[in-house]
Formats: sequence, C-alpha cells, structure tokens
Amino acid sequence: MTKLHLVPYPNKVILTGGFALPDITITENEKEMPKREAYFLRISEKEIYIEGDKAGIFYANQTLHQLQMQFGKELPCLEIEDSPRFSYRGFMLDSSRHFLPKEDVKKMIDVIALFKINKLHWHLIDDQGFRVEIDAFPKLTEIGAYRGRSHFGLVDEYKNNSGYFTKEDIREIVAYAGEHMIDVIPEIEIPGHESAMLAAYPEVGCEGKKVQVATCGGIFDNLICAGKEESFVFVTKIIDELIELFPYEMIHIGGDEACKRRWRSCPDCQKKLKELGLKDENALQQWFVKRVQGYLKQKGKTAIVWNDSLRGEKLPTDFVIQMWMGDKELVADFVKRGGKIIQSSTESFYLDYPYAMWDVDKILHYELCPEFIEKEEAVIGVECPLWTERVCDLDREFYQMLPRLPAMAECGWTIKEARSNEDFKERYQSIDNYLKQKDIFGAPEAYWYISDELAERDMEEHKRMVYTPENIAEFEREGEMMALERAIYGDER
Ligand code: ACM
Ligand code: ZN
Repeated sequence: MTKLHLVPYPNKVILTGGFALPDITITENEKEMPKREAYFLRISEKEIYIEGDKAGIFYANQTLHQLQMQFGKELPCLEIEDSPRFSYRGFMLDSSRHFLPKEDVKKMIDVIALFKINKLHWHLIDDQGFRVEIDAFPKLTEIGAYRGRSHFGLVDEYKNNSGYFTKEDIREIVAYAGEHMIDVIPEIEIPGHESAMLAAYPEVGCEGKKVQVATCGGIFDNLICAGKEESFVFVTKIIDELIELFPYEMIHIGGDEACKRRWRSCPDCQKKLKELGLKDENALQQWFVKRVQGYLKQKGKTAIVWNDSLRGEKLPTDFVIQMWMGDKELVADFVKRGGKIIQSSTESFYLDYPYAMWDVDKILHYELCPEFIEKEEAVIGVECPLWTERVCDLDREFYQMLPRLPAMAECGWTIKEARSNEDFKERYQSIDNYLKQKDIFGAPEAYWYISDELAERDMEEHKRMVYTPENIAEFEREGEMMALERAIYGDER
C-alpha cells in the first residue's frame, strides 16, 4: 500500500485506487461541520473536492500541499475525513531572550502552519527584554528592550539581544498568523520575571529601585509589588493595549518561578497580606493573579497561567493551567474540580532541551494524560515551548523545532488509534526534503531517533554549552532561590 507522507497523520484515510489527472480542478465548499476545524478531502481522477469550515478548508489544503510534496502532480485517489484530537495545538516562541525580527517570526508561522498548529503563544516579556510597544509606558521598550553584552553559558554575545515589536509589527504578524488559522496568544509575566519591566518602571517594584535588564539566565527576585495599587493599575493598562492588539480569547499571564524574597520584606506586600488575612506570599500571588484574571474576564478573556500559580488557595477552574513541571497533586485536584490544562511537560515538549533528552520517539510515545488525570477531556491541548537562552538565530530555532514540533503536532491532532509512531520517520521524509529546498534545516536524521552513543555525545555538548563558570554562579543563585522557597513552602521542586 502506498504510504502517505503526512504529518500529522489524518484520522481517517481511504485510498480509492488510481491517480488523479494532472492539473485537475479543485472545488472548495465552505460549510459548518459537526466538529470545528474538520474537513473532508476527496481526490478522484477528475476533481479534488474539499469541504469544511474555514479552518478545515485551510487544513485540507495543508494536507494537499504535503501530498504534493510526496507525489508532485500525480496524486493518488483517496478520501480523507479529518478533525483534530485537541482544539489547542500550540508552539511557544520566546522573543525575550533572543529577539528575532518579524520576517523570521513569519517564517516560523509558515512552518508551524504546515503541521496544523493553531496557537502561537508569544512570550514577549521576561527578565531579559520587554518586546512589545506599549503607548502608556514608552520606557518599557525604550529601556526594557535593550541589554548590552549577554551570556547564557557558551552563548556569549551581542547578537539579537535588543529590539522590540512595534504595534504595527504586531498587527502585521497577528494578521499573517490569522491567514494561517493561528491565534496569537501574548504572555505578560506576572508577578515574576520582571527585571526588564522594573528596569523601566522601578516604582512598581517593592523597593522602587532601578534594576538591570537581565543579561544572563536564571531565576531573579525582581517581582512586581503586589501590595501597591499602582502595580495593578500598571498591569491593567498594559493588558488593555494587549487586548487591542491580540483579538483572541486567551491571554497568558505567566505566574511561574516567582521567588517571593522581596515580598517578604516589603511593607506594602506585608500590609496587603495582613489586610486580606492571607496565609502567606503564595496566597498573595494568587490574590494578585486572580485580580488580574478578574479584569480579563470582564473583558471576555480567559487567563492561562503556568502551574506554579496553583500554589496557595484552590485556584478557580476558569483559569487554564499550562503544565510544565511539578505541582502534580495540585494539578490533579484542579482537574478533579473540572479545570482544564495544556500539556507542555518539560519531560517531553521543551524544544530548547537537547535531542539527547527528548527525541522524536519520546515525544510520539509521551503519555499525555498521566495517571493523575483521569479524563482526556481535561486536556484542551498540547504545546511545545521554545525558550531561547541558547537559541539565538532562526537556523537554530528550526534545528530545535524540526522534526520535534511536527511530532508534537501529531500527538495534538491524531488520535492514538489512527497513527503509527514507527513510520513517522518515513512519513516526514518528503516534508523534510521540501523544507530543505527552502533552506529550512531541522536536526540531522540521526538525531530524530537518537542512538545511545550519539545521545551521550549530544548531552556532553549540551553540558559544555550550559555549565560555564559564569553560568554555574547563575545556577547556584537559582538553587538558593529554590531552596529558600522549598524551606518555606515545601515545594516539590
Ligand atoms: C518555565 O519554563 N519557566 C515555564
Ligand atoms: Zn511589595
């Protein structure tokens, strides 16, 4: 039987025999389908017929495009009935650690759209750079988008350290993504990872002191002050402008790795904590995050947060939790109460990690709904984050993404019964050739299903890149922060 080189593999394929004539007509029939994003594609000798909703028609064309990569003009006659396993199939781009211009972001959109990814989670704000123009607070980009020399292990340079997206750029990218059926979800980090924000507006920090835009990686204790009313107003004004730029339902408000050291000694934070009768600083984080979420809700938006935000009281289930690491019992409880999650486990989906840790095989076999999540309905989808501390240009981005992102896309689109993990390599071949012709190079084939020997070498190289003397100091600092949090809260991490 002809093997179709399709990724993600469609959920139902019937080969009807024979081949279509070259240059046959394509008929598109846009209509509502029983499921969103569903499509039907029939290739017969004399006609290609497509039906589906708007997204479905787009996906049918992506399937057709992949078939053309394999067969050229001599397409096999077939019928495909297809719809996604999950409604959320995401890719996260970190533009803070390394800034790539809008042309590069568009190239990334072209690539992720090929695999029916429908969410671009855009990490625009972090310690190392604030990358979106905000009219109300111009210094966020005048100051917060610039850093000097920076180092992330062996990545020690000036390249792509500075820059930001103007509102015009963002509108252009959002429109471009929209043409590819991709919703762009911005992330504003609250309350941690705020060095760039506090470099520009120290008055919303606890001590009111100017800090540096971070020039290395790690966890910092530069948090927005939860005790000052002006912090909340500051955040909501940024959100107002983000809502104007990003018209979609979801906004990510961060919530990870917020080391509360400064909150513990801040008179404003401590006053607020007592006033509200809160148990500790985790509860204060939740109070602040819930306040921001309440603001978003009023505007018809859903807030996504990293799982760290579950610590404290029981988080209401109208948040969406993005799972990345730890807090398993809290996630289990959240799900039991009816909460929804996005699966982005560091144990499989972190694209900045080396192939030695997560190769294609691991991603394809990753169990999305581990024992503590009883029902798949709790998972709205999957997402691969690409953190860019050590990813400083588009070539490296593609190296880290391809073909691991397509493997994740398959987990997000194709039900287990319809896919065969074993032939992924073969099915990806024509796509890989096509991308190479466009000068888009993923990792070499030997890395896709990495051998033990190569994995060992890859891991050594990764360690050499990460554990430089300067970085060891970073990790020690990070370790101290974690230890402090653990000593106080007994965190899992
Ligand atoms: C994360 O990787 N800090 C969410
Ligand atoms: Zn404070």
